[in-house]
Amino acid sequence: MALWMYEIEGARPLSGRVRISGSKNASLPLLAAALLADTPTTLYNIPVLRDTMQMKRLIEHLGAKVTFSQGVMTIDPSGFKVDNVPYDIMCEMRASFYAMGPMLARLGKARVSQPGGCAIGDRPVDIHLRGFKVLGVRMTRSAGYIHARHKGLVGTRLSLMGPKGTSVGATINVLMAAVLASGTTVIDDAAREPEVIEMISFLKAMGARIEGSGTNTLTVEGVESLRGVEYRVSPDRIEAGTWAVAALVTHGDVVLENVDPVACESTLELLERWGAELSDAGPNAIRVRRGKGTKKPLSIVTEPFPGFPTDVQSVFTTLLALTPGESDLRETIYPERFKHVPELNRMGARIKLEGSRITIKGVAALEGAAVMASDLRAGAALVIAALAAHGTSQVRRIYHVERGYEDLVNKLRGIGAVIRRVEEADVDPGLMVSSNDMYDAQVEELIAPHREVGT
Ligand code: UD1
Repeated sequence: MALWMYEIEGARPLSGRVRISGSKNASLPLLAAALLADTPTTLYNIPVLRDTMQMKRLIEHLGAKVTFSQGVMTIDPSGFKVDNVPYDIMCEMRASFYAMGPMLARLGKARVSQPGGCAIGDRPVDIHLRGFKVLGVRMTRSAGYIHARHKGLVGTRLSLMGPKGTSVGATINVLMAAVLASGTTVIDDAAREPEVIEMISFLKAMGARIEGSGTNTLTVEGVESLRGVEYRVSPDRIEAGTWAVAALVTHGDVVLENVDPVACESTLELLERWGAELSDAGPNAIRVRRGKGTKKPLSIVTEPFPGFPTDVQSVFTTLLALTPGESDLRETIYPERFKHVPELNRMGARIKLEGSRITIKGVAALEGAAVMASDLRAGAALVIAALAAHGTSQVRRIYHVERGYEDLVNKLRGIGAVIRRVEEADVDPGLMVSSNDMYDAQVEELIAPHREVGT
């Protein structure tokens, strides 16, 4: 059984054009929401990722018929009858919890394995459950499962405020239930991330009646049924931020194609404050260069949209590690999301972690090393560091990275990176370090047919 890693020869300026893929975090709930319709839905621009393939597997498990080719996924929900999400599916991907809204709306019941924590910390689902409860769902827990049923979802007024602010997942999940509830649901303290706005557009195209998109209060008039639609997923704002930083730390000159500048606004603003030169390179394209002058250290706080997103915090850590002066970064959404820090320090960075805040003293260069990805965005920070570093790096446990970056090797090679995807070694299944490693080997089979030859 094989595990894969990236071998990267760094310190080469990236240059050329790279196309941003469809958004992972938009695709996952949209695939679940396709189950709300009576007729088939076709989604375009679905990225080939471990997570999207996993979501395909989940909705097939629930009874939908799904086809996928060249980024186009068609979901026929007519066989959607299965009302459970077992532990072995949930533990591989927390976004599986998005099945709960459609199950409650269409089947009237759901038996869902309760998600646990993950590498970026504790990730409860209490806000989702609170929302469902207010809509009339009765719930019990036993043996790690949530058993939920109702005698009709009834619209009402509810708040989805959580201890860390708004919740993207809870807003989307409760919205998926509310669109088929009877009467009017008013959701206060709704998240307004681009993925929520996208879900609202999608549901409205299906026939849902929702007002307040882009604000923290959503008003939903329940409808009897929804119809399948054709819909194009918007570009991934996190991928755009990641490749922008890759261009900057390698002293490159890269045009990002297929970017939504509004969704990326806070990231782009901070890059400009840092000293990057960002220019218009045609419709939905942005040219990214370092620009003249000394780069400025930054003081950053992660916040719900339109604030700076937690998902690009890790790659900004790499950027600031290579920026003269002292920067600091405070994580308010996932206070433990700093697994990339010790690995970056092994490459020569000078980052101090105190609670949910890091202080970064910029260094002139990083040194290639063997490092280990512990989660998706931590892995991205290490890939970026390896691209900038002198010498060769090996980034291990790349299955984390491939959850969220489509065709990473080809895209980076296309802009001049020297990167190879190689087998770590033949690993004895008995020596696998976690269930994820085992999972990696299985999911590789799902993705391999879609991967281009030579990666
Ligand atoms: C989504 C994104 C993730 C991103 C995050 C924040 C997907 C698949 N994932 O995750 O990449 O980092 O938004 O933008 O789209 N919380 C609770 N109780 C709940 C739900 C959330 O306390 O029931 C807390 C979380 O622990 C976190 C904060 O609220 O501290 C925000 O979480 P949320 O917006 O729900 O994140 P996800 O939807 O899980």
